[in-house]
Amino acid sequence: MQEKIISGFSKLTKAEKLTWVTRHYVADAEAAAGEIAGFTHADERLQQVLDRFSENTVANYPMPFGIAPNFLINGRVYAVPMVIEESSVVAAASSAAKFWLARGGFKAEVLSTVKLGQVHFTWSGDPARLRLAFAELESRLRLDAAYLTENMEKRGGGVGRIELIDLSDREPGLFQLRVAFQTCDSMGANFINSVLEQFSATLEEFAAAHPALQPDGKDLVVIMAILSNYTPECVVRAYVECPVDRLAGACKELGPAAFAEKFRKAVRIAQVDPYRAVTHNKGIFNGVDAVVLATANDFRAIEACGHAYAARDGQYRSLSNCTVEDGLFRFWADLPLAVGTVGGLTNLHPLARRSLDILGNPSAEELMAIIACTGLAQNFAALRSLITTGIQSGHMKMHLANILHHLGAGEQETREAIEHFRDKTVSFAAVREFLNSFSGNAGVVSKAP
Ligand code: MEV
Repeated sequence: MQEKIISGFSKLTKAEKLTWVTRHYVADAEAAAGEIAGFTHADERLQQVLDRFSENTVANYPMPFGIAPNFLINGRVYAVPMVIEESSVVAAASSAAKFWLARGGFKAEVLSTVKLGQVHFTWSGDPARLRLAFAELESRLRLDAAYLTENMEKRGGGVGRIELIDLSDREPGLFQLRVAFQTCDSMGANFINSVLEQFSATLEEFAAAHPALQPDGKDLVVIMAILSNYTPECVVRAYVECPVDRLAGACKELGPAAFAEKFRKAVRIAQVDPYRAVTHNKGIFNGVDAVVLATANDFRAIEACGHAYAARDGQYRSLSNCTVEDGLFRFWADLPLAVGTVGGLTNLHPLARRSLDILGNPSAEELMAIIACTGLAQNFAALRSLITTGIQSGHMKMHLANILHHLGAGEQETREAIEHFRDKTVSFAAVREFLNSFSGNAGVVSKAP
């Protein structure tokens, strides 16, 4: 075990890191090191850019970068860049985009763009004294942070309301400053955290000196200051709607009215049952995450927030809703999406920059709309399959190429297999059987799944 532990790993060169890790953790060390190093970018300057994003990098981890075209959103057509490894997600988004293109397209409305941050602190004094001094504290906080907020204010953003929250009924002496921010086109994490850290210093100084908080003002201790990734006030609504009879063509199996009703029920199941809701929302995030990743936004933050938002009334529910009323089909999702189109990696990652280019260099609000509509499209496509053919036929058709590659099929076998499985159920075993019985290839295929 001892030889698997190292100190000073970060000081090794990239080649040394790779040699060390493969020697100590992999059976075929040399082959593994060569394979991993093979994913290094040929352009040294570009590789340096990528290396700077993280620590201890030894190579790159490629993901497919795809495009879902024909997205009509608020009257404008987009080709949406998506980074995702799961077969059929881009195809599903594209097919839903095309379906709605002929029915008025997607619409989206940004409901609000407020982001939040917190300074958590403890104080054993009387909360009433804190409340009394709060107006004065608030002016000091704003004044002391002016050097940080000035530029953001010029761009139309800055610090909004500052609230004193008393949590001492949950944990003795626990309070927080909850601060609202507008960060314009940036996601704003660095801005928010810098302001909050200045607020922390001001808060402690203020408490130590203010006569109304003595003699225990010096005991006020800031525990931490950090933005909140829960942004229930940074929300966009994406929706599609059309008369029910315009749903004709949504599927072969059902007429438009039956399709609309079955679709509504499928959404309703995810509203009332958390087990289904998680899978349903995962489908929405198939679309959301793929665009968030393509534009180098923070998909962990978006996911964490989205799921918390889905449980905001105490039960985890579908993020999308559907009604069929007075002959009108309406399908929509409200999604909290704190994203940026400037700052962070959005302009540093060459492909994120290109993604934004492809999207026409949108504002943060426009990007919120695009992401939400892609999530809704994904949800529409998934439900459309689930309530008709089932998800596997489409999914496995897309996955067929992966299986064929895995089984080492040649060009001609691949062509024949695609033709063969056009009207058959794809499974790993069925593809292996087909290849084994394929003339001229009998017995070649032996790899296990
Ligand atoms: C698979 O990645 C996503 C789905 O499971 C979503 C859903 O069930 O709604 C198909």
